[in-house]
Amino acid sequence: MILQDAGALALEGARRVAVRAARVLAARSRFRLVLAGGATPRGLYEQLAAASGGEGIDDASLDWSRVELFFGDERVVPPDDPASNYRMVRESLLDRLVRAPAQVHRIEGELPPAAAAARYARRVGIALGSRIPRFDLVLLGLGTDGHTASLFPGSPALDERARPFVPARAPVAPHDRVTVTLPALRAAGEILFLVGGVAKATALARVLRPVAGAEPLPAARVRPASGRLTWLADEAAAVSL
Ligand code: 6PG
Repeated sequence: MILQDAGALALEGARRVAVRAARVLAARSRFRLVLAGGATPRGLYEQLAAASGGEGIDDASLDWSRVELFFGDERVVPPDDPASNYRMVRESLLDRLVRAPAQVHRIEGELPPAAAAARYARRVGIALGSRIPRFDLVLLGLGTDGHTASLFPGSPALDERARPFVPARAPVAPHDRVTVTLPALRAAGEILFLVGGVAKATALARVLRPVAGAEPLPAARVRPASGRLTWLADEAAAVSL
């Protein structure tokens, strides 16, 4: 779906989170949401926070006392570092929510990457009760090189078959990361990509209109086995489609 601009992208993303949450919470006690990092989802998180005070999204309300938050990736930095995805989520969402979520499971970026990944995999396994977690909704972004979460082109993390979270390296700083893996994404109930800005236009076109014979970009390898996959892009990002 193509939205006019960054504001419309944030609003539609937040609306879809709320709709999915309502659907899940009608059947189960908890809604398990995986948050994306980077700059793009900030507006979506702010919309969710605004709606928690009764403004903004009017066609679905979210019962935060039944929401469990997880992270798809983290930079290996302390949680108060300006590069921390947790810090971005805290500033745009957690600090602004009128009602706190049931639980926030952050990746411990202050630990060495292998330890942080192993501890997070264990924590997620306990929270969701299985080795490969089945998250209800995973939010993801797209990098200009086609990466998503911290699954970068050529990364050994793309070949992971068993673990839901692994350490990874990024070609840009901060280089050390912890990332969700393709098997964990495959098991998700729903995946929502959020892509904004003209800088992403070439990568988006390469993901959605792959050239025969070319190595698929990491984001193109994200395919939920039975869940829904949706791309939301603003007009600038969609200009090459
Ligand atoms: C991260 C990410 C990453 C991000 C893309 C897009 O920690 O960097 O989770 O996959 O979603 O790089 O980032 P921007 O939204 O900042 O362009």
